[in-house]
Amino acid sequence: MRFGITFSFFLLTLTGCGAEHGGRTGSDSQASLEAVTPESIQAFESTVYNFGKANGCVKCHGGSVNPQWLNADPRTAYSFARPLVNFANPTASTFVNYVSNNHCGDPVCRDPANTSVIQDMLLQWAAIEMNQASNGLPPSDGTTLANPPFVTATTPIPANPPLITSNSRAVVRFNLSQLQPPIARLNGAILEVSVQSYNSAYTTYKIFDLRVVGASAPVTLDGVHVYVRPATGTGIGNEYVNQGNIWSSLVALVPVIAVPSPLPTGPMTSATPLVGTSLAIPIQSASDVITIGFKDIR
Ligand code: HEC
Repeated sequence: MRFGITFSFFLLTLTGCGAEHGGRTGSDSQASLEAVTPESIQAFESTVYNFGKANGCVKCHGGSVNPQWLNADPRTAYSFARPLVNFANPTASTFVNYVSNNHCGDPVCRDPANTSVIQDMLLQWAAIEMNQASNGLPPSDGTTLANPPFVTATTPIPANPPLITSNSRAVVRFNLSQLQPPIARLNGAILEVSVQSYNSAYTTYKIFDLRVVGASAPVTLDGVHVYVRPATGTGIGNEYVNQGNIWSSLVALVPVIAVPSPLPTGPMTSATPLVGTSLAIPIQSASDVITIGFKDIR
């Protein structure tokens, strides 16, 4: 292992960066920094670090200017870079703003084309960090439910969904007449989620914009759980504990909205999404299936 040591020298106080970046508090960052693994450093090196070296950010951030997120020592660089990333929402990290905000008076800092490039890199880095939950990295807000009392039918997820940096998305729809056990008010209703890939390596789904149309009377969904597995498996699959179960505390009132006719190929925009947060769930195979479970429907 190249970086098989514990990092006790994180220079957090030198970054001049407070909790306003990305909403993580200093103590959260510190706690998770103690769990840094070689994989995390390599994920940083192969994404944001390489980008900064290749795009001239290194002229200043390599040493002469703090934060030194491009320090010649990748471990030191990582300690400056990590607090600037919002791992709950990587594309909203400070880097995304700074890559083209012209903060340095040099043309390298005002190229809007770099926005989507660095977003993609932040997502790849974040996906690797998030996969290390056993090391104490970002805990989930929700709880899991191995045997949800209500479940949808199991449905395929399109392979290689559009990237989060594109304007398109795949939609996956569930016929709620097939809910087990059935709920009369949801007979003929459709539940839809939108799906994108967080990165071009297709390692992580972004699941978002939960919508329901066609209820014949209002219904409350209490606790929404999302399960993914390869199509070749059995059962409902696994709930991803790290960023994959944050809808578990959702209590959403489904209004009465007609099923659009014909059904659009894109999202059913006649219905407002029931939740604003999105889930990050590892892609498990080229043909995965998804099932949605509920703690209660009333
Ligand atoms: C000519 C020098 C220079 C170059 C080149 C430069 N920066 Fe900076 N950067 C600065 C200075 C000075 C600061 C600190 C002042 C500030 O926050 O604006 C800074 C701060 C930052 C911060 C920290 C913001 C914070 O809130 O702590 C980020 C992130 C950043 N730069 C990203 C970049 C990126 C990405 C590039 C390359 C596209 C880049 N910089 C190129 C001078 C530079």
